[in-house]
Amino acid sequence: MEQDTQKIVEEAEAEAAKAADSRALYEVKMKFLGRAGKVTALLKGMREVAAELRPAFGKKVNELRETLEAKFAALEEKLKKKEMAAKLSGEQIDVTMPGRRRAQGTLHPVTRVKNELIDIFAGMGFEVFEGPEIETDYYNFTALNTPADHPARDMQDTFYLGEKFLLRTQTSAGQIRVMENKKPPIKILCPGKVFRSDDDATHSPMFHQMEGLVVDKHITLCDLQGMLDEFARTMFSQSSKTRLRPSYFPFTEPSVEVDVSCASCGGKGCSLCKGTGWIEVLGAGMVNRRVLENCGIDPDKYTGFAFGMGIERIAMLKYGINNIKLLTENDVRFLEQFKD
Ligand code: DAH
Repeated sequence: MEQDTQKIVEEAEAEAAKAADSRALYEVKMKFLGRAGKVTALLKGMREVAAELRPAFGKKVNELRETLEAKFAALEEKLKKKEMAAKLSGEQIDVTMPGRRRAQGTLHPVTRVKNELIDIFAGMGFEVFEGPEIETDYYNFTALNTPADHPARDMQDTFYLGEKFLLRTQTSAGQIRVMENKKPPIKILCPGKVFRSDDDATHSPMFHQMEGLVVDKHITLCDLQGMLDEFARTMFSQSSKTRLRPSYFPFTEPSVEVDVSCASCGGKGCSLCKGTGWIEVLGAGMVNRRVLENCGIDPDKYTGFAFGMGIERIAMLKYGINNIKLLTENDVRFLEQFKD
């Protein structure tokens, strides 16, 4: 018996010494002290021991169990300490290391120009109104003096959504929505997306416009040019000038196209302005009396001017961007150039 227990102790020590971590050690411990373990088996064999020897046998087995438990506990503590040390050194952090900076995004050039336009005109007392992108034929065309058979409808390739609805082709639709609900004096800006079936280096099927509308007593074309001069000086350069050329839009009479002196050559003529010294930037005019009437505003009492410009076009001129596609591709290398 003495030899048996000695052998079990040695065997347990040898196996425990091989355990690489506390989990492996636990397996070894179960092999000896677990329910199916060797020491437990010895206790179960007690029945075969002669009755007078049983107390001494029981005592021996208990001693064996205590010895083994103590040995396992000591080893377990050692292994756990080692494991904790390894874990701590693996998770060590260097608090003096500089933090990781988050990459910072930039405002898209279209957003920048839109915000800048709003700033410029808000400074002159304009308020912002945003109309819906899905419009009715009435607001986009008919109320703007462009009835169904009007040839001016061909000026814009429209995406129709059935008989009545369409994707608005111009933010001018916003003018009608404002004038229907507000009596003069009116001074609003209507920024937003517009849609046309058009696609090349300077046209995209979706782009942004900024509409302006002023209606009050005694408004003249001079007021329009004064405000546009201010816009050109702030947006492009302090020495920028504007020039009005006669044009045609169904909702204005007279209608004009507005050119800004070329900021690239200062008006001398270059490849950007095709040698003319001028660049066309927007359409405008005095609000047609029919349009005022359509909105219940008396054209004999009130007059107004309106203008509409393409935000992408302004951004392209301002930043020297030669292809409108760059504005929708979201290439970070392009967008990063517009950091403050
Ligand atoms: N809506 C016109 C377009 O999309 C631009 C325009 C021209 C707007 C003259 C106006 C205006 O308000 O008076 O081409």
